[in-house]
Order: sequence, then structure tokens, then C-alpha cells
Amino acid sequence: MARPITEWVDVDGDVTIIARETGEVWFYRPETKDKGADPFGKPMTGPGSAATAVSLLDGAIHLGFSRIEKNLATPSPTVAGYVMALIGAYHTSVDTAQNLRRAGRRFEELHRPEVTAYLEERAREETGHDRLALKDLRALGMPAERLVANLVPEGIGPMCRHFDDLCAEDYPIGCVGYSYCLERIAALKQEADIESVKAICPEGVDATRFLRSHSGLGSEVAHVEETIAFVASLPADDRIKVVRETYQSAVIMAEGYNRELLRTEAEVMAVLERAAGESLCFDVGRPLMQAGTRPAA
Ligand SMILES: [Fe+2]
Ligand SMILES: [Fe+2]
Repeated sequence: MARPITEWVDVDGDVTIIARETGEVWFYRPETKDKGADPFGKPMTGPGSAATAVSLLDGAIHLGFSRIEKNLATPSPTVAGYVMALIGAYHTSVDTAQNLRRAGRRFEELHRPEVTAYLEERAREETGHDRLALKDLRALGMPAERLVANLVPEGIGPMCRHFDDLCAEDYPIGCVGYSYCLERIAALKQEADIESVKAICPEGVDATRFLRSHSGLGSEVAHVEETIAFVASLPADDRIKVVRETYQSAVIMAEGYNRELLRTEAEVMAVLERAAGESLCFDVGRPLMQAGTRPAA
């Protein structure tokens, strides 16, 4: 009988994630600095599997978010906060398709047609998602185009720049890790999150197009599954880079999302009204999402 596959990735020079095909995962902090004496001191070289890939990828997200655990913001959600999250969602999706295509063209030059095919498929799937966020903003009575033109939420800007940079690298495989992180977090959202948004919307208004599509009820679950299968099929060097980038992206997203959630209601309102160039009418104080859920972005 074949031995179960074991994969491992040193994500930041300090912690190594070890995953077994049988489902076990360890966060390993080697006590010795002698890499030669450490059974996981050398990079893995063997084949991947879907079971180990998902453990490494989700382990990387867990580690990235655990860095802010003590400072995790859990504010009372508001309409203004949701509007800000939709503006963030617009910015995290408006350049996604063209960025993925750019990375795909680079892999064409590198004679990696299977990576190009995956990235082009992802680009097709992500096309137009920025328009869902715009429609939601309009549905809430917001001057959608003016808000997104004048405002990139502080916590979201670094995420967008990071993705732009990853897709422009000479060897842009890291963009797969960033995308996985974003989609995996989105896929955690459930019907209850959507229902709590719908509950405060005026009768007949639907401002949950982006949220629904980027949730466990929308296409994100399939996107996540496709990415896991794709990562499992890659050579070991690429899998290592993807997992490391998933971790780096999780660190940036955790800090970015938290920065947005830590803003007071008054700060959010002031930023939105400055961007809109007019006073905005919010139904302030009504609960929009359950405390602790992530923004729509
Ligand atoms: Fe999307
Ligand atoms: Fe997606």
C-alpha cells in the first residue's frame, strides 16, 4: 500500500506547516537551527494531493490571521460600515481579471500552458464582479461611481497593491495564493450574513449581489475547490511559493480588514461623505451583519 503523502512548507522562516494526506496538520517550530538535523529543514520535493494542499493553504490563512487575534475588532455593524465594505469589494475585484490575464500571459512565455489555462479560466469567472458591488451601492442610494473613484478604504489599498505586484512578478505564481486567501475567507459567509443585510434593506431593495456571490452560497465554494485541485497538481516548488504567499496575503488581509473594522462609526461616515462630496443618508445604528463577520470585500 502506498504511504500517505506528507507535505510541508516553512512559511516565514519560523513556522513550518506539516500536512498529512490522512488529514493531520501541525504547526512546527523547529528547536534546532541546524536545518540538516531537522527532518523538515529541506524544502519538500514530492508530489502533492488535494487533502494536503487544503491543509497547507488553510493552515497558512489560520497562521496569518492568528497574528491579530488579540486585537481582533468586533464592532457593532452598521449601514455605513457595509457601504465602506462594498467600496472595498469593488476595489478588490475591479482589476482582478486583467491582473490574472497578465500573469497568465507570463506563464505562456514560460511554457506553462496549464497555469495559463487555469489563470484565464479564473479571469473569466471573476469578470464583472466589480459591477455587482456598484449595483449594491446604487441600490442603497449611494453615488456609487463617485465613491469608488474618490475612495480606496485604507485597509484595502495595501491588499490591492499587493495583488497588482504579485501578478506583475517575473514568476507570478504567488497570485494563486492571494486569490485563494480572498476567496476562502469569502466562502465562510453564510445565509445568516446575507439575511441580516437583507433585513435592514428597504422593502424590495437588494444590496447583497456581491455578498451572495462571494459567500458559501455563491460561486466562491467552486472557485476554492478548483484552486485546491490546481495547487495539488503543481510541482513542489510552486506549491511552496503558493502556500507562502497565502500566508503573506493572510497577514496583509487580517491587518487590512481589522483596520477597517476598528474605525468608529463617525470616522466611517466622515470618510464616506468626504468621498461623496455631499452628506449621505444612512439608517445609522441598525445592525447590518453579526459582530465578528468579515466585510464584504
Ligand atoms: Fe469575485
Ligand atoms: Fe471568486
